[in-house]
Amino acid sequence: MDEAMSVFKEFHALSGEDKAIETSKDPNKSCYIYPSSENYATEKFHLWRDALVHNCNPLEECIQFWPEQPPRYREVVGPYTAEVRKLGFRILEFFSQGLGISLGGLVGNQNLVVNHYPPCPDPSLTMGLGKHIDPAFINILLQSDVYGLQVFKDEGWVVVEPIPNAFVVNLGYPLQIISNGKLKGAEHRAVTNSNIARTSASFFISPSHETLIEPAKSSVDASHPALYKSLPYKDFISKYLANFSDSKALEEALRTTV
Ligand code: OGA
Ligand code: NI
Repeated sequence: MDEAMSVFKEFHALSGEDKAIETSKDPNKSCYIYPSSENYATEKFHLWRDALVHNCNPLEECIQFWPEQPPRYREVVGPYTAEVRKLGFRILEFFSQGLGISLGGLVGNQNLVVNHYPPCPDPSLTMGLGKHIDPAFINILLQSDVYGLQVFKDEGWVVVEPIPNAFVVNLGYPLQIISNGKLKGAEHRAVTNSNIARTSASFFISPSHETLIEPAKSSVDASHPALYKSLPYKDFISKYLANFSDSKALEEALRTTV
């Protein structure tokens, strides 16, 4: 974990030109970099953030498109993602037992997003990442030792302290829908600070595009009607991106109308 965090920091310390070169090896864009959010062109405000994204599965196929700078990137991040993936699937197995459906069989993309939040001269004016619930089943998040992650609880923001050698596991929107609201997606955000850069790495385990995201039969009965519409995951993602900065509008777009 420490070595992975070191190479993530080294990657983001490269020049903009080098980062562009290191993320343009795959014509199909399984590895790329963006400023702010995936929605840069249409978002209402920009975030104080750069993000490196790449696919992690199957590892033998996608690793050839990962950065080669810093030189140890692939050597360190390959085994890192393989282990985090195993941990993630173990956690999904527990959710599967609780929900009475096999989530492992519904998995599609397994992505790593390496976030970088440079020091910000005035953190009161901007966010690293605004309030959101992750769009994956789960996110296994490696925080560095720099504070910045907060979770929304009881109408207020609570600091998620960085704990050495620990992951933060975020439950995402699809599990909230599948459990018909019994499980709550963690609403969280990242704030910036004026002194020191912060780097974090999210390993997202997501449903495949065709998977129907809908309340599981085990979560619905006469007194618990389905709260959410049934949507293929790719349609869920369209709604998610269209409402990225407005969590209330997103929830409304996903809910049944009755
Ligand atoms: C994310 C995320 C928080 C952080 O990548 O979805 O919420 O601490 N990251 O960077
Ligand atoms: Ni998140």
